[in-house]
Amino acid sequence: MTDKTAEDTFTLTNDQTGDSWKLPVAKGTLGPDVIDIRKLYSQAGVFTLDPAFTATGSCKSRITFIDGDEGVLMHRGYDIKELAAESNYLEVCYLLLYGELPSKAEMEEFRHNITYHTMVHEQVHKFFTGFRRDAHPMAIMCGIVGALSAFYHDSLDIWDEKQREISAHRLIAKIPTLAAMTMKYSLGQPFVYPRNDLGYAENFLHMCFSVPAEEYKVSPVLADAMDKILILHADHEQNASTSTVRIAGSSQANPFACIASGITSLWGPAHGGANQAVLEMLEQIGSKERIPEFLERAKDKDDPFRLMGFGHRVYKNYDPRAAVLKKNCDEVLEELGVENEPLLEIARELEKIALEDDYFVQRKLFPNVDFYSGIILKAMGFPTSMFTVLFAVARTVGWVSQWKEMMEETALKIGRPRQLYVGEGPRDYVPMDKRKS
Ligand code: SDX
Repeated sequence: MTDKTAEDTFTLTNDQTGDSWKLPVAKGTLGPDVIDIRKLYSQAGVFTLDPAFTATGSCKSRITFIDGDEGVLMHRGYDIKELAAESNYLEVCYLLLYGELPSKAEMEEFRHNITYHTMVHEQVHKFFTGFRRDAHPMAIMCGIVGALSAFYHDSLDIWDEKQREISAHRLIAKIPTLAAMTMKYSLGQPFVYPRNDLGYAENFLHMCFSVPAEEYKVSPVLADAMDKILILHADHEQNASTSTVRIAGSSQANPFACIASGITSLWGPAHGGANQAVLEMLEQIGSKERIPEFLERAKDKDDPFRLMGFGHRVYKNYDPRAAVLKKNCDEVLEELGVENEPLLEIARELEKIALEDDYFVQRKLFPNVDFYSGIILKAMGFPTSMFTVLFAVARTVGWVSQWKEMMEETALKIGRPRQLYVGEGPRDYVPMDKRKS
C-alpha cells in the first residue's frame, strides 16, 4: 500500500509482537469510511468478531443511505420526506430498481408491466386450503411466496438479466395480490381478483376490502395513505431481512426463495413484527394512567418487556418515517371519523413521556417506523395480524432491488461468516458403558 496517502490506510499493530499491517480504507459518497479487512486473515492470521454486525459493512450499495444521528433516509439520493410528499409507490419502486426517476414513457411502461403481472396462477389458490383459517398471515406468506418458484420456471435463471427483471416485476406485482388473499382467507371471504384499471395501492385496498355482495369504492384519502405507508417501508439499507435476502441470494437461490427468506426474517417482533407488537402493547397499556408502569417495565433488565416501536440500531434520532406517519395518522383518522382513537391518545402520551425520560434520552431511543403505522392500519380496518404482511408488501421492492444489485456485481461470492470458537478442545469418543450415569 505504498502509493496511497496515509489517510487511505489504517495500520493494525500486534502489541505483543510489534508486527503491523496496513489495511486499505474505502470511502463512500456519504457516511463513515470503512476499513477493508478482506486480507486481514491472510496477512495477520486473525478474524474480526462483531455479533449482530453492529459495526460491520456487508456490501457496497447505491440504493439507500441512512444517517442515524441526523435522522436522514435517502433512496438513490432523494430524501424520504420528499418522496413521501411528491412521489408514489410505483415510481419509488422504479427508482429503487433502476436508480433514476423514470421519464413519463418509462413510468407508463413500468406501470403496464407491473399491472399485467398482478394475477397469480389459479393453482396458487389451492395452497391456501392447506392452512387453518386462523393461521397467522405471515406463516401463509412465508409458504406461498417461496412456492412461487414452482410456477415461474421461465424466469429462474439468475444469470439472465431479462429473467431477473421479470422475476422482480412478478414479485412486486404479485405480493399485494397474495397479501390480500391471506387476509381474505383469514376472514373466510372469497378472494378478490386484481383490477387493471386501479393504481397499485388502490388495487391492494380493493382486493382486501371489497366483497362480491356490493360495490366497493376505495377512498382516495385511504389509497393515498396506503401509498405513503408503502413508500415509507420500501427499503432501509442492510436491515435484518434485507441481509437475509442477500445471504440467501449469495448461495444463488432463486429470487422467490430469497424473498420468502426475507419475509421470515421480517416477521420477528424486533423487526417488522414490531408494528403488530406496538398495537398489542398499546392495547395492553389500555389507559394513559398505566403508562408509567409500563415505562418502568421497559427499563427493568429483568423484565423482557420492551417499548415496542421505540429504538433502532441505526437511528439515534427521530426515525424520519415515524414523523411522516405521525402526521399521516391525523389525516386518516379524521377521514375515518375516529380522530379520538384512544390508542392514538395513549401513543401520543407514551411518546411524550418517553422522550422526556432519562433512560430513553440517554440511549437515544426514539419512535421508529412501527410506532404509528399500526394505529393507521387498524383505523383502515386491517386485522392486527396483517400489519407485518403489509410491511412485507412494501419491502418486497427493497429486497428485490438489493438482490438485483448484488446479482449485478462482477463476482458473486457466497456469504459465509467465520466465528470465535469457544467450545471443547479435541477429546476421544466415550462408549456408553464408560460414561458417567
Ligand atoms: C425495524 O434495521 C432496520 O432498518 C429495521 C427497520 C427497517 O425499516 O428495516 O427500521 C424496521 O425493525 C424497526 C425496529 C422495530 N423494532 C421495535 O420497535 C422493537 C423494540 N426495539 C428494540 O427491540 C431495539 O431498539 C431494536 C431491536 C430495534 C434495536 O436494538 P439494538 O440496536 O440491538 O439496541 P440494543 O438492544 O443494544 O439497545 C441498546 C440499549 C439497551 O439498554 P442497555 O443494555 O444499554 O442498558 O437500549 C435499550 C436496550 O435494553 N433498548 C430498549 C429498547 N430498545 C433498546 N429499552 C426499552 N425499550 C426498547 N424498545
